[in-house]
Amino acid sequence: MKTIAIIGAMQEEITPLLAYFKDYDTKNIGGNSYYIANYKNYKIIIAYSKIGKIHAALTCSSMILCFNADYIIFTGVAGGLSSDLKIGDIVLATSLCQYDVDITAFGHPLGFIPESSVYINTNKILNDIAKQVAKDKNIPLKDGIIASGDTFVSNRDKKQWIIENFNACAVEMEGASIAVVSNLLNIPFCVIRSISDSADDNADINFDEFLSTSAIKSASFVLSMVDKIIKI
Ligand code: ADE
Repeated sequence: MKTIAIIGAMQEEITPLLAYFKDYDTKNIGGNSYYIANYKNYKIIIAYSKIGKIHAALTCSSMILCFNADYIIFTGVAGGLSSDLKIGDIVLATSLCQYDVDITAFGHPLGFIPESSVYINTNKILNDIAKQVAKDKNIPLKDGIIASGDTFVSNRDKKQWIIENFNACAVEMEGASIAVVSNLLNIPFCVIRSISDSADDNADINFDEFLSTSAIKSASFVLSMVDKIIKI
């Protein structure tokens, strides 16, 4: 039986998924709860990691190494960097980077770690499924680079700096760790986010207001993807 793992960072990001699957078992590993449901010949594992790249890396590693995930999907919210991304829009990561990695002191480019790369591409098959879902549901899906770092960005200068240095369209705090772990362990992955704020001076207020509604949009998009993945 194949396994699809769905990861969020916060409880709010997975609550809509748990409400959908209703019937699940729970396993605890490393301070996280993993919810295991059976769905049409597939196993679906759902967890929230807690905020940040390290937590997300642990959850993603556990999904692959302890639960044998065949696919990793990240669902949640992000701060919009491009002016054409509005609150509630859905964004698909084409690739991810860690904007807070800096060993330029040794002559490396910003975001680069030796034996790794600045950008890690998401999986084409999963991305094509996301595009198909968007088409079927008439949802305008934007795609682009998503930048991750361990800071909630709520400042125009920092926002501008990330755009200029990484050409990213959205910012969040976990996606790149899903990319690093899944890529190293050869598991296809994708990152779907719905915009909760614009990473500007109002970001904290907008985030609190739109976290739940944007999280629901992302989760329901991912549920439609699951229905297509199980037909692969
Ligand atoms: N997730 C949602 N909005 C964010 C922001 N502005 N910065 C970092 N992560 C986010």
